[in-house]
Amino acid sequence: MSNFTTITSKVEEGIALIELNRPKVLNAINRSMVSELLSAFEQYDRDDQVKAIVLTGNDRAFAAGADIDEMMNDDAITLELLNQFKDWDQLHTIKKPVIGAVSGFCFGGGFELALCCDILFASEKAQFGFPEVKLGVMPGAGGTVKLTKLMGQKKALEWLWLGESMTAKEAHQYGVINRVVAPELVLEEAMKFARTIASKAPLSLRLIKETVYKAVDDSVLDGMQFERKNFYLLFSSEDQKEGMKAFAEKRRANFKGK
Ligand code: CAA
Repeated sequence: MSNFTTITSKVEEGIALIELNRPKVLNAINRSMVSELLSAFEQYDRDDQVKAIVLTGNDRAFAAGADIDEMMNDDAITLELLNQFKDWDQLHTIKKPVIGAVSGFCFGGGFELALCCDILFASEKAQFGFPEVKLGVMPGAGGTVKLTKLMGQKKALEWLWLGESMTAKEAHQYGVINRVVAPELVLEEAMKFARTIASKAPLSLRLIKETVYKAVDDSVLDGMQFERKNFYLLFSSEDQKEGMKAFAEKRRANFKGK
Protein backbone atom coordinates (compact mmCIF):
# COMPACT_ATOMS: atom_id res chain seq x y z
CA MET A 1 0.00 0.00 0.00
CA SER A 2 0.96 3.71 -0.03
CA ASN A 3 4.14 5.10 1.50
CA PHE A 4 2.96 5.35 5.06
CA THR A 5 5.37 6.61 7.71
CA THR A 6 3.37 6.11 10.91
CA ILE A 7 1.73 2.77 10.16
CA THR A 8 2.50 -0.38 8.17
CA SER A 9 -0.07 -2.46 6.38
CA LYS A 10 -0.39 -5.66 4.39
CA VAL A 11 -3.00 -8.20 3.33
CA GLU A 12 -2.73 -11.91 4.17
CA GLU A 13 -5.37 -14.39 3.01
CA GLY A 14 -8.12 -11.80 2.77
CA ILE A 15 -7.30 -10.16 6.11
CA ALA A 16 -5.75 -6.70 6.17
CA LEU A 17 -3.31 -6.12 9.00
CA ILE A 18 -2.58 -2.52 10.01
CA GLU A 19 0.17 -1.92 12.57
CA LEU A 20 0.79 1.36 14.35
CA ASN A 21 4.44 2.23 13.83
CA ARG A 22 5.81 5.01 16.03
CA PRO A 23 7.53 2.75 18.57
CA LYS A 24 9.91 5.42 19.92
CA VAL A 25 6.94 7.37 21.32
CA LEU A 26 4.87 4.32 22.27
CA ASN A 27 2.76 4.79 19.12
CA ALA A 28 1.55 8.22 20.22
CA ILE A 29 -1.11 9.22 17.71
CA ASN A 30 -0.32 12.36 15.76
CA ARG A 31 -2.45 13.88 12.99
CA SER A 32 -0.47 12.12 10.25
CA MET A 33 -1.14 8.78 11.87
CA VAL A 34 -4.91 9.33 11.98
CA SER A 35 -4.87 10.51 8.37
CA GLU A 36 -2.83 7.45 7.28
CA LEU A 37 -5.03 5.13 9.30
CA LEU A 38 -8.14 6.53 7.65
CA SER A 39 -6.57 6.22 4.23
CA ALA A 40 -5.61 2.55 4.84
CA PHE A 41 -9.01 1.70 6.33
CA GLU A 42 -10.86 3.31 3.43
CA GLN A 43 -8.73 1.52 0.81
CA TYR A 44 -9.29 -1.84 2.49
CA ASP A 45 -12.99 -1.11 2.91
CA ARG A 46 -13.23 -0.70 -0.89
CA ASP A 47 -11.05 -3.74 -1.69
CA ASP A 48 -13.18 -6.83 -2.51
CA GLN A 49 -10.26 -9.12 -1.63
CA VAL A 50 -10.27 -7.87 1.97
CA LYS A 51 -12.87 -9.45 4.24
CA ALA A 52 -11.84 -8.02 7.62
CA ILE A 53 -9.27 -5.63 9.06
CA VAL A 54 -7.04 -6.22 12.10
CA LEU A 55 -5.49 -3.24 13.88
CA THR A 56 -2.59 -3.66 16.30
CA GLY A 57 0.39 -1.94 17.93
CA ASN A 58 3.45 -3.62 19.39
CA ASP A 59 4.17 -5.57 22.59
CA ARG A 60 4.96 -2.46 24.63
CA ALA A 61 2.12 -0.26 23.43
CA PHE A 62 -1.00 -0.34 21.35
CA ALA A 63 -0.82 3.46 21.67
CA ALA A 64 -0.04 5.66 24.69
CA GLY A 65 -2.47 8.37 23.63
CA ALA A 66 -2.69 11.30 21.30
CA ASP A 67 0.70 12.90 20.66
CA ILE A 68 1.11 15.33 23.55
CA ASP A 69 4.07 17.11 21.90
CA GLU A 70 2.00 17.87 18.83
CA MET A 71 -0.96 19.38 20.66
CA MET A 72 0.57 20.99 23.74
CA ASN A 73 0.72 24.49 22.19
CA ASP A 74 -2.61 24.32 20.37
CA ASP A 75 -5.44 26.66 21.29
CA ALA A 76 -9.16 26.11 20.90
CA ILE A 77 -9.46 28.07 17.67
CA THR A 78 -6.56 26.16 16.08
CA LEU A 79 -8.27 22.88 16.92
CA GLU A 80 -11.60 24.16 15.59
CA LEU A 81 -10.02 25.39 12.34
CA LEU A 82 -8.03 22.17 11.93
CA ASN A 83 -11.25 20.26 12.49
CA GLN A 84 -9.06 18.15 14.77
CA PHE A 85 -11.32 15.09 14.96
CA LYS A 86 -12.57 14.98 11.36
CA ASP A 87 -10.47 11.94 10.40
CA TRP A 88 -11.23 10.27 13.73
CA ASP A 89 -14.96 10.64 13.05
CA GLN A 90 -14.51 9.14 9.59
CA LEU A 91 -13.03 5.98 11.13
CA HIS A 92 -16.59 5.17 12.19
CA THR A 93 -17.74 4.95 8.58
CA ILE A 94 -15.78 1.73 7.87
CA LYS A 95 -18.23 -1.00 6.91
CA LYS A 96 -16.04 -4.09 7.20
CA PRO A 97 -15.32 -5.82 10.52
CA VAL A 98 -12.42 -4.24 12.40
CA ILE A 99 -10.70 -6.37 15.03
CA GLY A 100 -8.29 -4.77 17.51
CA ALA A 101 -5.36 -6.67 19.04
CA VAL A 102 -4.10 -4.74 22.07
CA SER A 103 -0.86 -5.29 24.00
CA GLY A 104 0.84 -2.97 26.48
CA PHE A 105 -0.28 0.63 27.03
CA CYS A 106 -3.65 1.62 25.61
CA PHE A 107 -4.20 5.11 26.95
CA GLY A 108 -6.15 8.23 26.02
CA GLY A 109 -6.43 8.55 22.26
CA GLY A 110 -4.97 5.03 22.02
CA PHE A 111 -7.90 3.70 24.05
CA GLU A 112 -10.23 5.76 21.84
CA LEU A 113 -8.66 4.23 18.74
CA ALA A 114 -9.10 0.75 20.23
CA LEU A 115 -12.75 1.61 20.90
CA CYS A 116 -13.14 2.35 17.17
CA CYS A 117 -12.61 -1.41 16.64
CA ASP A 118 -15.70 -3.61 16.54
CA ILE A 119 -14.11 -6.47 18.48
CA LEU A 120 -11.19 -6.20 20.91
CA PHE A 121 -8.68 -8.85 21.93
CA ALA A 122 -6.24 -7.85 24.66
CA SER A 123 -3.16 -9.29 26.27
CA GLU A 124 -3.40 -10.17 29.97
CA LYS A 125 -0.73 -7.52 30.42
CA ALA A 126 -2.49 -4.74 28.49
CA GLN A 127 -3.37 -1.59 30.43
CA PHE A 128 -6.30 0.63 29.50
CA GLY A 129 -7.03 4.10 30.75
CA PHE A 130 -7.94 7.72 30.17
CA PRO A 131 -5.21 9.77 31.90
CA GLU A 132 -6.31 13.06 30.27
CA VAL A 133 -7.48 14.41 33.64
CA LYS A 134 -3.80 14.50 34.69
CA LEU A 135 -3.00 16.70 31.66
CA GLY A 136 -5.76 19.24 32.20
CA VAL A 137 -7.88 17.94 29.34
CA MET A 138 -10.40 15.15 28.73
CA PRO A 139 -10.98 12.56 26.00
CA GLY A 140 -11.96 14.25 22.75
CA ALA A 141 -12.38 11.41 20.26
CA GLY A 142 -15.37 9.69 21.82
CA GLY A 143 -13.78 8.12 24.91
CA THR A 144 -16.12 9.71 27.46
CA VAL A 145 -19.20 8.78 25.47
CA LYS A 146 -18.20 5.23 24.55
CA LEU A 147 -16.94 4.33 28.03
CA THR A 148 -20.23 5.55 29.51
CA LYS A 149 -22.27 3.49 27.05
CA LEU A 150 -20.15 0.41 27.66
CA MET A 151 -19.79 0.44 31.46
CA GLY A 152 -22.50 2.84 32.70
CA GLN A 153 -22.23 6.37 34.05
CA LYS A 154 -21.06 5.66 37.60
CA LYS A 155 -18.14 3.44 36.63
CA ALA A 156 -17.22 5.66 33.67
CA LEU A 157 -17.02 8.72 35.92
CA GLU A 158 -14.88 6.83 38.40
CA TRP A 159 -12.35 5.78 35.75
CA LEU A 160 -12.34 9.11 33.91
CA TRP A 161 -12.01 11.17 37.11
CA LEU A 162 -9.28 9.01 38.61
CA GLY A 163 -7.42 8.72 35.30
CA GLU A 164 -6.05 5.39 36.49
CA SER A 165 -5.35 2.42 34.29
CA MET A 166 -7.46 -0.71 34.33
CA THR A 167 -6.18 -4.19 33.68
CA ALA A 168 -7.39 -6.18 30.69
CA LYS A 169 -9.31 -8.38 33.14
CA GLU A 170 -11.15 -5.32 34.53
CA ALA A 171 -11.83 -3.99 31.03
CA HIS A 172 -13.27 -7.39 30.16
CA GLN A 173 -15.46 -7.47 33.27
CA TYR A 174 -16.92 -4.08 32.31
CA GLY A 175 -17.68 -5.25 28.78
CA VAL A 176 -15.15 -2.88 27.24
CA ILE A 177 -13.18 -5.63 25.49
CA ASN A 178 -14.20 -9.02 24.13
CA ARG A 179 -11.41 -11.39 25.12
CA VAL A 180 -8.30 -11.50 27.28
CA VAL A 181 -5.56 -13.81 26.01
CA ALA A 182 -1.95 -14.71 26.77
CA PRO A 183 0.44 -11.96 25.57
CA GLU A 184 2.03 -14.10 22.87
CA LEU A 185 -1.38 -15.04 21.42
CA VAL A 186 -3.08 -11.65 21.03
CA LEU A 187 -2.42 -11.04 17.37
CA GLU A 188 -2.80 -14.71 16.48
CA GLU A 189 -6.22 -14.91 18.18
CA ALA A 190 -7.38 -11.66 16.55
CA MET A 191 -6.29 -12.95 13.12
CA LYS A 192 -8.00 -16.27 13.79
CA PHE A 193 -11.24 -14.50 14.68
CA ALA A 194 -10.94 -12.32 11.56
CA ARG A 195 -10.39 -15.40 9.36
CA THR A 196 -13.39 -17.14 10.95
CA ILE A 197 -15.80 -14.31 10.22
CA ALA A 198 -14.23 -13.79 6.80
CA SER A 199 -15.85 -17.06 5.71
CA LYS A 200 -19.35 -15.69 6.49
CA ALA A 201 -21.55 -13.71 4.09
CA PRO A 202 -19.92 -10.25 3.70
CA LEU A 203 -23.21 -8.39 3.28
CA SER A 204 -24.60 -10.03 6.42
CA LEU A 205 -21.52 -8.93 8.38
CA ARG A 206 -21.86 -5.42 6.98
CA LEU A 207 -25.57 -4.99 7.78
CA ILE A 208 -25.26 -6.64 11.20
CA LYS A 209 -22.54 -4.10 12.06
CA GLU A 210 -24.71 -1.23 10.89
CA THR A 211 -27.73 -2.52 12.81
CA VAL A 212 -25.85 -3.16 16.06
CA TYR A 213 -24.38 0.39 16.14
CA LYS A 214 -27.80 1.87 15.33
CA ALA A 215 -29.29 -0.19 18.17
CA VAL A 216 -26.96 1.46 20.70
CA ASP A 217 -28.88 4.74 20.39
CA ASP A 218 -32.30 3.52 19.23
CA SER A 219 -35.40 2.50 21.16
CA VAL A 220 -36.11 -1.23 20.85
CA LEU A 221 -38.96 -0.57 18.41
CA ASP A 222 -36.94 1.81 16.21
CA GLY A 223 -34.03 -0.61 16.26
CA MET A 224 -36.31 -3.45 15.21
CA GLN A 225 -37.70 -1.43 12.31
CA PHE A 226 -34.17 -0.76 11.12
CA GLU A 227 -33.23 -4.40 11.62
CA ARG A 228 -36.21 -5.55 9.55
CA LYS A 229 -35.33 -3.33 6.59
CA ASN A 230 -31.80 -4.74 6.56
CA PHE A 231 -33.19 -8.27 6.90
CA TYR A 232 -35.39 -7.68 3.83
CA LEU A 233 -32.49 -6.06 1.98
CA LEU A 234 -30.39 -9.23 2.31
CA PHE A 235 -33.06 -11.10 0.35
CA SER A 236 -31.99 -9.03 -2.65
CA SER A 237 -28.50 -10.50 -2.44
CA GLU A 238 -27.08 -13.41 -4.41
CA ASP A 239 -25.48 -14.60 -1.20
CA GLN A 240 -28.88 -15.17 0.46
CA LYS A 241 -29.86 -17.46 -2.42
CA GLU A 242 -26.47 -19.18 -2.31
CA GLY A 243 -26.45 -19.52 1.51
CA MET A 244 -29.88 -21.13 1.69
CA LYS A 245 -29.29 -23.30 -1.39
CA ALA A 246 -25.99 -24.53 0.07
CA PHE A 247 -27.79 -25.41 3.31
CA ALA A 248 -30.41 -27.41 1.40
CA GLU A 249 -27.69 -29.14 -0.63
CA LYS A 250 -25.66 -29.85 2.52
CA ARG A 251 -22.55 -28.11 1.19
CA ARG A 252 -20.45 -25.12 2.17
CA ALA A 253 -21.74 -21.80 0.80
CA ASN A 254 -19.58 -19.91 -1.63
CA PHE A 255 -20.30 -16.28 -0.76
CA LYS A 256 -19.41 -13.49 -3.17
CA GLY A 257 -20.48 -10.41 -1.22
CA LYS A 258 -23.17 -9.58 -3.77
N1 CAA B 1 2.58 11.69 23.37
C1 CAA B 1 3.85 11.96 23.01
N2 CAA B 1 4.90 11.21 23.44
C2 CAA B 1 4.63 10.18 24.24
C3 CAA B 1 3.32 9.84 24.65
C4 CAA B 1 2.26 10.66 24.19
N3 CAA B 1 0.98 10.41 24.48
N4 CAA B 1 3.39 8.77 25.47
C5 CAA B 1 4.69 8.43 25.56
N5 CAA B 1 5.44 9.27 24.82
C6 CAA B 1 6.90 9.24 24.64
C7 CAA B 1 7.63 9.74 25.87
O1 CAA B 1 7.68 11.14 25.90
C8 CAA B 1 8.98 9.10 25.70
O2 CAA B 1 9.72 9.84 24.77
P1 CAA B 1 11.30 10.15 25.05
O3 CAA B 1 11.94 8.80 25.04
O4 CAA B 1 11.71 11.01 23.90
O5 CAA B 1 11.35 10.81 26.38
C9 CAA B 1 8.65 7.75 25.06
O6 CAA B 1 7.34 7.90 24.52
C10 CAA B 1 8.63 6.61 26.05
O7 CAA B 1 7.75 6.96 27.11
P2 CAA B 1 8.17 6.92 28.66
O8 CAA B 1 9.65 7.11 28.82
O9 CAA B 1 7.27 7.84 29.40
O10 CAA B 1 7.83 5.39 28.99
P3 CAA B 1 7.38 4.78 30.39
O11 CAA B 1 7.37 3.30 30.21
O12 CAA B 1 8.18 5.34 31.50
O13 CAA B 1 5.86 5.30 30.61
C11 CAA B 1 3.59 5.73 29.94
C12 CAA B 1 4.85 4.87 29.75
C13 CAA B 1 3.03 5.51 31.36
C14 CAA B 1 2.56 5.29 28.91
C15 CAA B 1 3.95 7.23 29.77
O14 CAA B 1 4.69 7.39 28.57
C16 CAA B 1 2.78 8.14 29.70
O15 CAA B 1 2.18 8.45 30.74
N6 CAA B 1 2.40 8.62 28.48
C17 CAA B 1 1.32 9.56 28.29
C18 CAA B 1 -0.04 8.90 28.45
C19 CAA B 1 -1.15 9.93 28.29
O16 CAA B 1 -1.27 10.86 29.06
N7 CAA B 1 -2.00 9.74 27.26
C20 CAA B 1 -3.11 10.64 26.96
C21 CAA B 1 -2.70 11.67 25.93
S1 CAA B 1 -3.93 12.92 25.69
C22 CAA B 1 -5.07 12.24 24.65
O17 CAA B 1 -4.95 11.11 24.21
C23 CAA B 1 -6.23 13.16 24.29
C24 CAA B 1 -7.32 12.60 23.45
O18 CAA B 1 -8.33 12.14 23.93
C25 CAA B 1 -7.28 12.65 21.98
